[in-house]
Amino acid sequence: MSSFLQEPFVDLIYFDRHGDDRGSLTAIENGKQIPFDIQRIYYIYETQENAIRGKHAHNNLKQVLICVSGSCEVQVEFQGTQKTFLLDSPTEGLYIQGKVWREMKNFSAGAVLLVLADAPYDKNDYIFSYQHFKQSHPPVIENLPPEYRECIF
Ligand code: TYD
Repeated sequence: MSSFLQEPFVDLIYFDRHGDDRGSLTAIENGKQIPFDIQRIYYIYETQENAIRGKHAHNNLKQVLICVSGSCEVQVEFQGTQKTFLLDSPTEGLYIQGKVWREMKNFSAGAVLLVLADAPYDKNDYIFSYQHFKQSHPPVIENLPPEYRECIF
């Protein structure tokens, strides 16, 4: 695997909606819409008002977050840059790879956040301390001229 594939990276993925007079359906297959083999699926639901989930980074994990019902915000940070994505469509997924700090917040009532991951649950892959995250991944982006900073997202 090239080192690029392990670098922190965040991007939106769009899925097809198969709609007819009965409603809508979106299909996801390994190697098609998702750029990794799906090894784990979990979903976050019954989220309490004002709860913030996540608050960690991973060393190597690749994930796609899809708010299949309702909406939530995902705040991501890497290389010294922060961005907040509103996930409010079952046809959008947020791809997050590697050492990216993430916080999920502002869940609408009844929201369901589906997460696809490329590895089984492994607590050792987590970076729980924001301080450790900042130290393990220095904000090299600050050394870049402003015109390059937008390339991060
Ligand atoms: P937690 O890591 O706190 O969720 P988040 O970071 O998304 O807010 O996970 C809550 C509990 O669920 C914790 O006891 C670990 C467990 N868990 C699993 O057993 N498997 C999993 O794949 C995940 C993500 C969590």
